[in-house]
Amino acid sequence: MTTSSSQPTARPNLVGTLIDEDRLWQRHEDLGAIGGTAKGGVNRQALTGEEVEARALIASWAEGLGFSLAVDPIGNMFIRREGTDPDAAPVVAGSHIDTQPTGGKYDGAYGVLAAFEVLEALERNGVKTRRPLEVGIWMNEEGSRFQPGCVGSGVFTGKKDLEPMLDMQDRAGISVREALKPVLGATPTATQRPLNTPIHAYLEAHIEQGPRLETEGLQIGVVTSIQGMRRFEIDIVGEEAHAGTTPRATRKDALSAAVRIITALEELMHDPDDVVRFTVGRMEVSPGSPNVVPGHVHFSIDFRHPDMAVLKERGDAVERIAQEKGAPCPVTVKGFGTNPPVHFPPEIVDIVRRGAERLDLPSMDMPSGAGHDAGLISAVAPVGMVFVPCERGISHNELERASAADLAAGTRVLAEAMVELANR
Ligand code: GLV
Ligand code: MN
Ligand code: MN
Repeated sequence: MTTSSSQPTARPNLVGTLIDEDRLWQRHEDLGAIGGTAKGGVNRQALTGEEVEARALIASWAEGLGFSLAVDPIGNMFIRREGTDPDAAPVVAGSHIDTQPTGGKYDGAYGVLAAFEVLEALERNGVKTRRPLEVGIWMNEEGSRFQPGCVGSGVFTGKKDLEPMLDMQDRAGISVREALKPVLGATPTATQRPLNTPIHAYLEAHIEQGPRLETEGLQIGVVTSIQGMRRFEIDIVGEEAHAGTTPRATRKDALSAAVRIITALEELMHDPDDVVRFTVGRMEVSPGSPNVVPGHVHFSIDFRHPDMAVLKERGDAVERIAQEKGAPCPVTVKGFGTNPPVHFPPEIVDIVRRGAERLDLPSMDMPSGAGHDAGLISAVAPVGMVFVPCERGISHNELERASAADLAAGTRVLAEAMVELANR
């Protein structure tokens, strides 16, 4: 997987050829070691000690190349390579370095390291751009430690309010405000920058997290859209009771109520075309003792679809169904708002596609099933994305794998698109 047979001859007029496959691969290995798990995955959740250590490592690489650093009030980090026009808004590319608790080395990290490799390759080869180029590292994209996800990009754009997001707590009661404290300490040379600074265009490279590119035998996906998403948290209050003595008629079993609710929601979300995505990914049962009737259940819902009307209609039914099916247990439903489907501007999609064509890399247009910071950034700047395959489409899993050649191919396309946008 680490062979560099795909390294083309460097041609400064085709900036994609300046990308160094081995260096890019090594950066993934080095970053992936922070929070690395025994199964070869990564656990580096937002604003943990591991994530802060990863920021410090990337900052040290940036400083070594003479790039400047900035951090905004929600903890987004920016690495900047100046352009020739000091007044021009930057072209930004990036993603996230937080992971799922059992995540991989590539989800998010690839978008950050690909963008960094573009800046590094241009710097080492003395290629100037008119606009500055920046790497954006968005805080808490995954939404596993702090709910919801895409917090950094959401607050940056004003789609999410800063104060409630700073007050948001993880399951141990630690707030984002508290967890952010070590961030500036880890990057002492970073300047503080306000939210929503101008962006000329935003690009994000990412592993596909699905099987289509691998099935088609293609290295490049040109992303045209991101499907919409709604998340909910459900709390059910039952009554703790003795498992051996309490008759069914008098039980208030919070887990039985949860099973009724989820069964009804599975029916609501049933889709013969298999387009609806409905997931209950977290469930906590209290007190969690085999011989106590559960007194409390908490579970999450992740619901996605490309069509806003379906998101609205089925999402709006969640609360009513939860109340009906949860009785006699009181049920509370908390919604986290809707990330609407996002369609990328055709102009940026074309720029990404043409970059692949110039490099003789066959590509296909495709929607994204996963959510990305690009979806949020689309509120303030034109956005585009490039996908590369990952083995068997597996992601949000420690077994997530991608090849050095594919990672480099996507980064070459990213370089072409960034430089085209930065010179206009
Ligand atoms: C991001 O990881 C998502 O859940 O789509
Ligand atoms: Mn991601
Ligand atoms: Mn992810």
